[in-house]
This record gives sequence, structure tokens and C-alpha cells, in this order.
Amino acid sequence: MKPIQVALIGTGTVGGGLLRVLSRNREEITRRAGRDIVVARVGARDVAKARKLVGPDLPVDADLMAVVTDPAIEIVVELIGGVVDAKRLVLAAIAAGKHVVTANKALLALHGNEIFAAAQDRGVMVAFEGAVAGGIPIIKALREGLTANRVEWIAGIINGTSNFILSSMRDTGASFASALAEAQRLGYAEADPTFDIEGIDAAHKLSIMSAIAFGIPMQFERAYTEGISQLTADDIRYAEELGYRIKLLGISRRVESSEDGRASGIELRVHPTLIPAKRLLANVEGVMNAVLVKGDAVGPTLYYGAGAGAEPTASAVVADLVDVTRLHTADPEHRVPHLAFQPDSLSNTPILPIAEVRTAYYLRLRVADKPGVLADITRILADAGISIGAVLQKEPAEGTHATDIIMLTHGTLEKRVDAAIDRIESLASALSKVTRIRVEDLA
Ligand code: HSE
Repeated sequence: MKPIQVALIGTGTVGGGLLRVLSRNREEITRRAGRDIVVARVGARDVAKARKLVGPDLPVDADLMAVVTDPAIEIVVELIGGVVDAKRLVLAAIAAGKHVVTANKALLALHGNEIFAAAQDRGVMVAFEGAVAGGIPIIKALREGLTANRVEWIAGIINGTSNFILSSMRDTGASFASALAEAQRLGYAEADPTFDIEGIDAAHKLSIMSAIAFGIPMQFERAYTEGISQLTADDIRYAEELGYRIKLLGISRRVESSEDGRASGIELRVHPTLIPAKRLLANVEGVMNAVLVKGDAVGPTLYYGAGAGAEPTASAVVADLVDVTRLHTADPEHRVPHLAFQPDSLSNTPILPIAEVRTAYYLRLRVADKPGVLADITRILADAGISIGAVLQKEPAEGTHATDIIMLTHGTLEKRVDAAIDRIESLASALSKVTRIRVEDLA
């Protein structure tokens, strides 16, 4: 059979990995796909730089639009990154009847609904395994492997940079700033690390996974996003003393209307989270990613692997290329839908605001060490209907009269905790703001 013709747009780290994996494993990939997959053209903004990567034989063009609309091309692989140009190119490829493979999570989180609708109308596929958790086949698992299940929740470590920083803070007692500097020195964190450390990259990936898991449109703009930049070495140490580890988790959970009088909806949130140290997820270290998915039939399932990097991400991109190669002659109505559910069967279940989230909490406060302080705090929590599970109080450091009080609450509504924190912070004995970190059991 004639080789399928692919255009590669973008020749950065993942583009290089893709060319290497396709070439090294060509024979096996062809036997799986049923035909040869050939990168026939390359589009790159910096042609000279791209030329060094692709060698002398492949045509390299700076006119990216000409490459994606070339009539000879059947699949466009978008690895250019960014959102504005990528969106324009992907929509042009779709309009020209090309299938698209992309690893661009920001593009899909922000514009996925429009892109999938355009692809559906045109009868082409947009495949995006590489967009979430690098080499872990989590999209395939959610879209196909778990299709029998009503997904109850997803919890994932889906940003390697922040996981590296948290692991390094725990291992060495380093501050956030020095762990970030180390991540930058090792090339994990960008010069501007905002997307990674403030949870935005994780929220992009979580929005994509929750759309597939719950059959809802992509709703990145409704995700609650809190990063790790405010975490202190003290919090990490206190969490350890209480038997927990702190991880930046993306959590999405289906809420039924009966719980706490809450309306039904979907929780969609990224934030630092205390999880019991004995959980597998608590032991995912360094830049590795892991996603825990709880289905009603299968129970908890865990997916672990490299969440970034040239060949791990290329592994996901090649899997998409093979899928598209196998399925492009299939009747579009009988392909796996982009978001797993048929496009006219997506649900309008709302995303719940963070105030309506129910979870447990770690609360830390620096107080003047004098009689009645603990009683005042516990009374405020009791008034708010919040039950305390554990309390840790430290001796004041020598020569001071200030001490840290750390509490773990049982499960409660976020809005109750908001109200209690306001009251605690107004106590005369409160010497700091309350640090609040959410706690999940993940059982
Ligand atoms: N910057 C991401 C991370 C990798 O640190 O996990 C690409 O999604």
C-alpha cells in the first residue's frame, strides 16, 4: 500500500524525537499500521535550524500554511506549540481535509471545542495523546479502555516540573525558590516557569481529561487553579509528620446532588494537596507523571510514566499517527469520537465553583502562645460545623512566644472553611494568615 504522507510542523524537542522514533522503529510501526508512515514535508520558522535536525533529504519550508494545505499531505502533525499560530494552522489543515495529530494541550484546552466541531464537520480526526502526560497513554485509556465505566473521579500528577520541585523540597528541605532554581538549572523548568508552577499547564491537561471522562465540553476557564509557589518547607515537613505528602494534583470529580445539599456537577481543580504517604501516587517522584482514575466497574486504576521529553512524547504522537493511519478510511461515524462521547451527546453538567467543593483541610496558623488560643480556634471551627481530625502544636522556638498550630479537618465544604478562616484571622492572637492546603484520601 502507498505510504501515508505526513507533514511535520515544528522541529523542537518533540519533533526531533518523532523523527528518531519513526526512523528507528520503522519496520515495527509499519507492520502495526499496515502501511509506511512517511514524513514528506517539514514546516519550521527557522529553516536553517530545522535543516540541522532533519538532514539534507527532507523539504523544509518556512511557509507553514503552504505545508499544511499541500494537497499531497494526508496527516498534519502540529508540534509548533503556542496557541495563536497553532490554532490558525490546525483549522486550515482541517478545512483542507487533513487529519491532525497534536501534542498542544493549551491549544485544545482553550479552543478544543471549536477544533473538534470543525473536524467533525469535515470528517477528519484530531488525535492528541501527546497533549496529556507525555508518553502515558491516558487518552487512549479514558476514551477506549475505560469505556464501560461511569468515571467517578480522576486525580493526577500531571506537571513534571512542579513534581520535581516538591520532591526536591521534601528530600533536601530546600525552599521553593531554591528548588525552582535547581529545576531551571537542570532544564526542567522554563526561564518563565509560570505555567508549570502556578498550575496552569496542569489545568490545561485536567480540562482535556475531564471532558473525556465525563462527556462534557472542554471548560478550562472554569477550572480552579492554584500553584505551588506559596508552599513552604515548614508545610512539607509538617505534612510528613502527620503521615502525608504534598503533591500538585489535578482533580476532577463527579458530584451527585444528594451530597451536602450540593447541586450535581463536576469538580475541576488544580492545587497542592496532602495525600497519605502510603498511597502509590504519593510516591511518584521527580519529573514523573501519574494519573489515578476511579471507574465504577473497574475501581481505581493507575497510569505512570514520563510526562514530557523528546521520545516519551514522540511515543504518544506515533501512536496517534498509527491510529489515524488505520482509521482514516473508516466511516467517520464509526470512529472513536474525539471526546469519547458522541458529539451530540455531551452533557451540560455544570462545573462546580470551588466554594462548593467538599474535601478535608490542613490549616496552619502562627499564634501567640497564651491560654485560650487553641480553644478560640476550635470553637470557631465547631461553630462552622467543621470537625477536627488531628492537631499538631509545636513548642515555641527558644526566646519567642509564637508557635505554629496545625490542624487536619474532616471532610467539609470549602465555603465553611472560608468563613472559619476569616474569623480565625481576626483573632488578636493570630500572628499570620492561615495556610490552607486541601487533603484527599484518594481511597
Ligand atoms: N512542562 C510540562 C511539565 C511538560 O513540566 O510537565 C509538558 O507538558
